[in-house]
Amino acid sequence: MNIAIGSDHAGFRLKNEIIKHIEEKGIEFKDYGTYNEDSCDYPDFAEKVASKVASKEFQFGILVCGTGVGIGIAANKVKGIRAVTCSDTFSAHASRQHNDANILCLGQRVIGIGLAFDIVDAFLSAEFEGGRHTLRINKITEIENKN
Ligand code: RB5
Repeated sequence: MNIAIGSDHAGFRLKNEIIKHIEEKGIEFKDYGTYNEDSCDYPDFAEKVASKVASKEFQFGILVCGTGVGIGIAANKVKGIRAVTCSDTFSAHASRQHNDANILCLGQRVIGIGLAFDIVDAFLSAEFEGGRHTLRINKITEIENKN
């Protein structure tokens, strides 16, 4: 497994904590910035990470902004990306099992570090269940291709 990770200034501190967390687990990752708390624009980091996941250079992405919302909206504009903003562990593992989500988005201003780690673990340990869910994912791809 490998992970592309990124954030804006409002997600910078939580991103660094998550990096330590996944490093401890021995997971390969690359940090696409931002690298300090100077004000910046979340779509820039969403695109960097999402393009690496869409090209399959990285299996998953993790993105952090203030809410996890803007960076998730931006990531979902990249073809092939199914980014989910999660503030609970159930949605995190269900998004892998049912939606084959490939980017997890978190809000530094929304959740604490402990919950963020649990959400990351729930997301990374769950597997896509396929079956009826594959048909639905294919329908999402059809929407993407039509519009
Ligand atoms: C930055 O102030 C904030 O708007 C951004 O991090 C994010 O929460 C947007 O969705």
